[in-house]
Amino acid sequence: MKKVLLLTASAGLLLSGCINDYTPSAAATAEDIFKGACMECHEAIEGKDNIYYEIASNKRNADFFAKKISSGSLIMPKFPNITGDGLKAVSQYALEHSVNK
Ligand code: HEC
Repeated sequence: MKKVLLLTASAGLLLSGCINDYTPSAAATAEDIFKGACMECHEAIEGKDNIYYEIASNKRNADFFAKKISSGSLIMPKFPNITGDGLKAVSQYALEHSVNK
């Protein structure tokens, strides 16, 4: 069920160009950014509290997350307005809320 919702949400974005213009305010914490920009698609993994990703251990580092946020993918939008400290903070937050696959 979750997968279906995720794919439906992404299909809409694919058609609209795959850019998300979310812009964090200067006072936004990492958690604010994650809630505002990521949680619409990335829900907690079923049965786990506050864990959003299962990532292969060789990719589970802050650089991988930052790159994903800046570059997106075919189905995940990129976030050109999340930069600098905000990008670092939300990458670290997402990393801390992930587990090895
Ligand atoms: C419109 C929906 C959507 C939003 C918003 C979104 N993502 Fe994603 N994200 C996806 C989809 C779909 C995938 C799986 C496909 C892929 O890897 O590109 C994904 C994959 C990822 C992955 C890779 C997971 C893996 O197993 O390799 C990371 C990391 C990630 N997202 C982080 C984020 C972060 C951080 C944000 C917020 C800044 C965010 N995403 C916002 C849809 C979204």
